[in-house]
Amino acid sequence: MRAAAPPANDSAHGGTRPARELAGLRARLADAEETLRAIRGGEVDAVVVAGKVGSQVFTLQGAEHAYRVLIESMNEGALTLKSDKMILYANQCFARMVKCPLEQLTGTSFRRFLSAEDRATLRRLMKRAAKSGAKIQVLLHAGDGSQLPVQISIRPLATNGINRAAIGMVVTDLTAARRNEQLLRALTHRVVQVQETERGRVALELHDHITQLLCAVLVRSQVLADRLSAHDGPSKREAMKLRAMLGQTAEEVERISRDLRPSVLDELGLDAVMRDTSTDFEERTGVSVKLACVELTARLPADTELSLYRILQEALKNVEQHARARRVTVCLKQQGKFVQLAINDDGIGFDPDHQRRRKGNGSLGLLSMRERAAYMGGDLKVKSARRAGTEIEVRIPLPPGGRAAK
Ligand SMILES: Nc1ncnc2c1ncn2[C@@H]1O[C@H](COP(=O)(O)OP(=O)(O)OP(=O)(O)O)[C@@H](O)[C@H]1O
Ligand SMILES: [Mg+2]
Repeated sequence: MRAAAPPANDSAHGGTRPARELAGLRARLADAEETLRAIRGGEVDAVVVAGKVGSQVFTLQGAEHAYRVLIESMNEGALTLKSDKMILYANQCFARMVKCPLEQLTGTSFRRFLSAEDRATLRRLMKRAAKSGAKIQVLLHAGDGSQLPVQISIRPLATNGINRAAIGMVVTDLTAARRNEQLLRALTHRVVQVQETERGRVALELHDHITQLLCAVLVRSQVLADRLSAHDGPSKREAMKLRAMLGQTAEEVERISRDLRPSVLDELGLDAVMRDTSTDFEERTGVSVKLACVELTARLPADTELSLYRILQEALKNVEQHARARRVTVCLKQQGKFVQLAINDDGIGFDPDHQRRRKGNGSLGLLSMRERAAYMGGDLKVKSARRAGTEIEVRIPLPPGGRAAK
C-alpha cells in the first residue's frame, strides 16, 4: 500500500517571513498537486491527513481504484448491468463505440444498442450465461445510426442487492477481424477460381487429346485382334487382353476428366451432372443413391451450379471414405429465394463439434464446402451424430428475380 504523506511543515525554511511563507505555500501546493496526480493514476490507495487530534488515514478503496484505472484505459468496452440490462457503469471505450456521451449511458438500457433479433438472442443467451458466462457476436447500433460488429463476453456477477450489478460485459470491436476475414475469403475464392480454370484446362486436354488417342489405339488393337486367326492362339489372346486394357484405360481417363470438370455441367446443367455423378458413385462404391430432386425450371448461374456440384462431389467423397453407408439421398430444390441441396447418408456419423475443435488436422473437405457456400452468400450445416448418419445441407441465395435466365 502506498499512502500520501501529510503536507510538509514550512517552519524549517530560512529567509524573511513573507518570503518564507510564500516558499512554504508553494511547497504545500506542489505536494498537493503531486498527491492528486498519484491518486488519479491509482498509485495511492490511502491519504494521511494531519489534524488537531493527530493524523487520520482515509482509504481510497485501493484495489477497486486500481481496477477502475485499468478498465478506463483498456481498449475494449466494459460495462456492468443490472439484471434488467440497465447500464450501471460503462467505460470511455464503450461510449466511443456507441458514439454516446459517457454521462448519458448510465441508467439507460443496453438493449437500445441492439437490433430486435440480437435482443432476442441475448435474452436466450443470458439464461445460459447465468451459470458460466457466454460469448455472442452482434452488431452494435451506435447513437449516430452507424453499426459496429462486436463480440460481447458476458459474465454473471455476484449480486447482493436489487440495485447492484448482475452482469459484467466486455465488448470487443471486430471491425478489423471482419475485414481480415473478408480479405482471406476473397483470396481463397481467387485460389479456387484459378484452380477451377486449371482443372477445366486439364480436363479438356484429357478429353480432346488423350482420350481421342486412346480411342484410336483401341480401334487399331481391335483390328489387330481381328486379323489374327485362331491359329495364332496365344498372340490373339494377348491382342484381346491388350484391347480390353486399353478400353479400361480410356474409361478411367474419361472418368478423371469428368471429375476435373464435367462437360455435362456446362452443356446440360446441374440436374444432368447430378444424375451422372450419382450413377458413377453407385457403380464404383456399391452404395445406392436416391435422387430426390425437384427439377428447377431454369439454369442457375454458372458459379452457383459449379459450387453445388463441388459440394456434392466432396460430400460423396466423404461418404465413400468415412461413412460406411448403404444408402445416400440427394435432394435439390428451390426454397423461397434459396436453392437448397441436402445430402443424407445412413452411415456411422460423427461428432461435428469435436471435428471443429480439432483444427489444424489437415482436413479440408468440410471447410472447403463451407467456404464455397459462404462465398456465394449462403451457408452450410452439418448434422451428424455417431451411429445416426450425416446430413450436409447447403443453401445458396438465388439471383434477384428468382432464377437466372436460360
Ligand atoms: N459422411 C460422413 N460420415 C462419417 N464421418 C464423416 C462424414 N463426413 C465427414 N466425416 C468426418 O469428418 C472428418 C472431416 O471431414 P473432411 O471432409 O473435412 O476431411 P477429410 O475427409 O478427413 O479429409 P479431406 O476431405 O481433406 O481429404 C472426416 O475425417 C470424418 O471423420
Ligand atoms: Mg473429406
